[in-house]
Amino acid sequence: MAYTFQQFVDDLDRITREETDQQTITQRVAPLLGELVKNPDAIPAEYRRSPDGQRGRYMLHRAPRFNVTSVIWRPGDVAGAHNHETWGVIGVVANEIEETRYRVPEQGAGRAALEVTRVMRHGPGAVSCLVPGDEVHRMRNASDRDTVEIHVYGRDLAGLRRRTWSEDGAEKPLVSPKYLNC
Ligand SMILES: [Fe+2]
Repeated sequence: MAYTFQQFVDDLDRITREETDQQTITQRVAPLLGELVKNPDAIPAEYRRSPDGQRGRYMLHRAPRFNVTSVIWRPGDVAGAHNHETWGVIGVVANEIEETRYRVPEQGAGRAALEVTRVMRHGPGAVSCLVPGDEVHRMRNASDRDTVEIHVYGRDLAGLRRRTWSEDGAEKPLVSPKYLNC
């Protein structure tokens, strides 16, 4: 039997009760998300499509200690370097995504000398973990088709004070009034 979305949510509930260490949580969640994304039908089809003219972002499950969303990146869609202030696990359901990770040596006065630590290309079934200390990334759909992902985070990103950086390292606050799931 295929692993279902409800089983995944139940497992997340249990893991986030049992563990407090963020690295441990992502290590336990990663193989489960890897199992879930192997079965695209675990997510209703309407949450695997982008609306006309927009990136797709859908809340699939919102709970106190975690939330699960789907994200549909259209060809050329980019989210510049940003942080999350929590753990995260990202899985690719369909197509592929380019993820660039950074080290962020602070330079003071709202600037950082962003250093690329790696550029990854995640294909279907791939899972990527974000943990404090290594969670600043840029996402880009460099392909010519839509990419479907499932994102799991340990905090609600709505209203959370985060940071984003432009290409030249200038820091800007990132606070989304509504749910921004990446
Ligand atoms: Fe992100």
